[in-house]
Amino acid sequence: MSVILWHPWPGIEKMLNALRRELPDTVVRGWNDQGDKSDVNYAVVWNPPKGELKTFPNLKCVFSMFAGIEHMMQDPELPDVPISHLIDNALTQGMTEYVVHNVLLHHRRRREFDEQQKQKLWKGLSIPPASARHVGIMGFGALGSDAARALLALDFNIAAWSRTPKSMAGVTSFHGSEGLSAFLAQTEILVCLLPLTPATTGILNHDFFSKLPKGAYLINAGRGGSQVEEDILSALFSGQLAGVSLDVFETEPLPNEHPFWDHPKVIITPHNASRTDTDSSARTIAANIIRFEAGKSVHGLVDRTRGY
Ligand code: NDP
Ligand code: OXD
Repeated sequence: MSVILWHPWPGIEKMLNALRRELPDTVVRGWNDQGDKSDVNYAVVWNPPKGELKTFPNLKCVFSMFAGIEHMMQDPELPDVPISHLIDNALTQGMTEYVVHNVLLHHRRRREFDEQQKQKLWKGLSIPPASARHVGIMGFGALGSDAARALLALDFNIAAWSRTPKSMAGVTSFHGSEGLSAFLAQTEILVCLLPLTPATTGILNHDFFSKLPKGAYLINAGRGGSQVEEDILSALFSGQLAGVSLDVFETEPLPNEHPFWDHPKVIITPHNASRTDTDSSARTIAANIIRFEAGKSVHGLVDRTRGY
């Protein structure tokens, strides 16, 4: 058996070494050193060239080094084997930090104090207690549910919106298109952690924003394809949105001329909310390969019909 690794990043050697360390009895190869393709049973990838995975005749399972797998779903020749997306403690912890940080930035009106500071203006602004603030999390999977736990510990009111109903103590659950309007009507700070699928493409649009209370905040660390950037700009202009934190964009890297760069109500990070940690993800993926070899189901299994 061998494992093949594909990723166009400079840290590829580090990942190869980490996987070799975690799987000492297995041959782990880089994409440029494939050996006999029929020996390869597992592929560890991010965005492999379309059509390439099908050239391994004995592939048993594909592991994504990223949580989002929309890139892979676009391969029309994706082999019919299980696909696992990354669910990893370090990745989850990073996202929870990003979400808590950005919820607090908006809750505590940080950008307004920045403006006042520029003017040397000493003026208090009212800030409700967290227990009176309503945060809505769209996408309540590995990442959304962990962020909820951290926000609950700070006493925020948490609602979740997902495809299927959820049950977590202290969280009000909404689901499906029938639950969306009620979820939005009570959300003052919206956190989007949805995967990109046909159903979530362009969901953050004018109609959607109009269902939020006026002056709501948006935090999107899911995928840029879920947001309509012109509609975000209009909603900021009209005051329907009071501020946004965006980690993901329709086009990445965000083009130089994009109005978001200079917008006083936009907080930008470069798809950096959370990043795959080499050692932690190698441990997670190796453990998943060992589970698969033992005939157990892998974690993070993707449902192809749902697209995530
Ligand atoms: P999961 O698959 O664990 O969770 C996805 C959640 O989204 C589930 O709760 C699911 O509902 C919900 N969902 C999916 N489609 C719909 C829909 N049409 N309507 C309502 N709810 C829907 O994914 P993760 O939590 O691991 O990751 C989420 C996304 O975060 C990734 O796909 C990726 O795009 C993004 N990400 C971004 C990073 C960054 O740095 N910016 C880093 C890591 C991930 P249900 O539970 O009912 O199935
Ligand atoms: C992602 C990731 O999906 O970094 O963005 O895992």
